[in-house]
Amino acid sequence: MTRRSVILGAGAYLPERVVTNDDLAKQMDTTDEWIVQRTGIRQRHVAAEGEFTSHLAAKASERALAAAGVKANEVDLIVLATTTPDETFPATATRVQAMLDITRGAAFDVQAVCAGFVYALAVADNFIKAGQAETALVIGAETFTRILDWNDRGTAVLFGDGAGAVVLRAAYGDRGVLSTHLHSDGRTHDALYVDGGPSSTGKVGHVRMAGKEVFKHAVSKLAQVIQEALDANGMAAKEIDWLVPHQANRRIIDGMAEKYGLPKEKVVVTVDRHANTSAASVPLALAEAIGDGRIKPGQIVVIEAIGGGLAWGAALVRM
Ligand code: UT7
Repeated sequence: MTRRSVILGAGAYLPERVVTNDDLAKQMDTTDEWIVQRTGIRQRHVAAEGEFTSHLAAKASERALAAAGVKANEVDLIVLATTTPDETFPATATRVQAMLDITRGAAFDVQAVCAGFVYALAVADNFIKAGQAETALVIGAETFTRILDWNDRGTAVLFGDGAGAVVLRAAYGDRGVLSTHLHSDGRTHDALYVDGGPSSTGKVGHVRMAGKEVFKHAVSKLAQVIQEALDANGMAAKEIDWLVPHQANRRIIDGMAEKYGLPKEKVVVTVDRHANTSAASVPLALAEAIGDGRIKPGQIVVIEAIGGGLAWGAALVRM
């Protein structure tokens, strides 16, 4: 029997404050119509002053642990994907570890921007498969609105804050993460980056994006990596029960669904309500669809994401 990582439960947390497209139209040259037509986004959640990435992550984690029926002290690995850590160091994962009163195991952050959750899942899955962890919390959490340039309408309208988490446990059988597939290509740096950092400018910086270029890369690279995941498992697209895609743009999501012949009933979409929450986007969508009973045990789920780096990836999971 193969040792695998089974998703025992998922949880999500969104900050209370909701900012609609009309709210943004009052402070910059944009319209609800443009944002909905180009992206499918209608609103986003924005963290309150004093509410940090670790706070969102801890709340999502508590909910994931409760859904999984796992006690915090059973967790021996925390992998947190974020681009907006509380501090330059230590890892935000260690803040979450302390908030959850966990005093054993290891906690660290993974940085792959919007692909962060897929990367974190792959890391935790490999720890579990190698026998180095039994129970892992995998978190995607962001206060992404803090690194936006509110004078740049091309990016300011696209992102939101939030957190999602899953609990993985080692088990022997058919269920669990069947494969993960990670890629990056640093030559495409200029398509999507932050113009600052501790080593370069000493300032946090703001998101810069060549939207059309990222869009083109997203469509081709996500299609390739989904195919890679299917091929690795000898599966055909018709065997996919659920596509849980990165929630950046409705047009990219619809394009993937169409390419793989998936009806919209098989695709989890939250971009309309959450906008792009970077590393939190996939676990937020996953937590919603597991929580409301759409995703059921035994079903085949494909997750995918792409973001700055460019870095992208996919995972195929039997729930
Ligand atoms: O999570 C990381 C991955 N990120 C993504 O996947 C994002 C991928 N890219 C996209 O989703 C799309 O490229 C965007 C939504 C960012 C932009 O959509 P687009 O159809 O590529 O529009 P565009 O950037 O080519 O802009 C079209 C027009 C421009 O005006 P002109 O030059 O045609 O007169 C922009 O200035 O729309 C204008 N524009 C806006 N208008 C109103 C750009 N932003 C806005 C805005 N409101 N917020």
